[in-house]
Amino acid sequence: MNIVVAVTGGIAAYKSVQLVRLLIKAGHDVTVVPTDDALRFVGLPTWEAISRNPVTTSVHDDVARVRHVALGQNADLVVVAPATANTIAKMAAGIADNLVGTTLLATEAPVLIAPAMHAEMWRHAATRANIETLRSRGVRIAGPATGELAGGDSGPGRMLEPEEIAEAALALLVPRDLAGMRIAISAGGTREPLDPVRFLGNRSSGRQGVALAAAAADRGAEVTLVAANIGADVLAAAQHPSIRVEYAGSAADLERAMTDAAAAAEVIVMAAAVADFRPAVRAERKLTKEAGGIPAIELVENPDIVAGLVRARREGQVIVGFAAETPEVEGDEAELLERARRKQRRKGVDLLVVNEVGWQRGFEQGENAAVVIGAEGAVVASASGSKRAVADAVLDAVREIWTPST
Ligand code: CTP
Repeated sequence: MNIVVAVTGGIAAYKSVQLVRLLIKAGHDVTVVPTDDALRFVGLPTWEAISRNPVTTSVHDDVARVRHVALGQNADLVVVAPATANTIAKMAAGIADNLVGTTLLATEAPVLIAPAMHAEMWRHAATRANIETLRSRGVRIAGPATGELAGGDSGPGRMLEPEEIAEAALALLVPRDLAGMRIAISAGGTREPLDPVRFLGNRSSGRQGVALAAAAADRGAEVTLVAANIGADVLAAAQHPSIRVEYAGSAADLERAMTDAAAAAEVIVMAAAVADFRPAVRAERKLTKEAGGIPAIELVENPDIVAGLVRARREGQVIVGFAAETPEVEGDEAELLERARRKQRRKGVDLLVVNEVGWQRGFEQGENAAVVIGAEGAVVASASGSKRAVADAVLDAVREIWTPST
């Protein structure tokens, strides 16, 4: 595919050399369009050598082939990295006073920007408004991260790492094979209040569920993501025009939100870790030591949400459950699968995504490994690697059994 990488004037331009390399390694034809300012950070020969394509900053070169619009017209994807506050403002206003601007105005391809600037500039009301404008037009925003900035400052504004930008970019080139699918996904972990300040919770970060939401949206689905206590940094990956986020705190909240979302969805994925039990009473006031003794916490059972959704299932609805298991012997795959098959039958889900978890595996990690069990108990898919790779494998299995309504 043809990818245009527009490089604007920031020190992070040096990281885009690696970005270009990664996109080429993934098999794409990359044309780099730097601004004049960008060339003060990384020179033209570097961009030509790394992209293996001619590079110019001028709208007046190659006029016979109308290069100033042809680049945008022929692109399958345009990535702006780094995207300075200035270029973001120009994009929002539709200004085309250089080759980056004309390329962006002439393209109908997906556009991804990786902002890089000082924290103050990122937080400025003008930048905030420009980002919102771009987002509302469907431009995808990758980052920025919070961390060290040029000059020793630190804060939000640091460009994402090349690997992260490449992953976000390549995700935009995927086929829209889930177009027309409405999918409700729960993610994160519930918290069951004990008193106004304490809760019983679990270590689920929500990363796998958010990766599922992002993958489904990239593949063309309309997504409702019910987020249970997911950190803002993790949830940021779910910023997508086709993802609507609903928030849930406890299992009871999650049940309400998923029941509502399921009414309009053909596919339901319960990736959230739901507390099986909640405190029988929620103390009105904070439990204190002053009261004396050690409080006994009585627990009552929460409803099994996915089992309820299965009972209320409409014709053609596909329901996917997750199972995080800790086998008696770590790594005992046979035992893991046997338990998973029992769970799949008990819950009545069409697909069950199974992974082994422990303190070192599964939770809070960027990487994951899972197998997917079908309704007959057979392993229908397996995947390992990034949570995105696992998400895509799960969605492939869903697509196999999903019948699009016409
Ligand atoms: N689940 C649910 N409601 C609950 C508990 C779990 O909907 N009260 C869903 C989870 O979202 C997940 C699947 O059921 O999709 C399996 O969760 P898990 O905690 O592994 O299952 P449990 O039924 O709690 O079984 P176990 O006895 O192994 O804890």
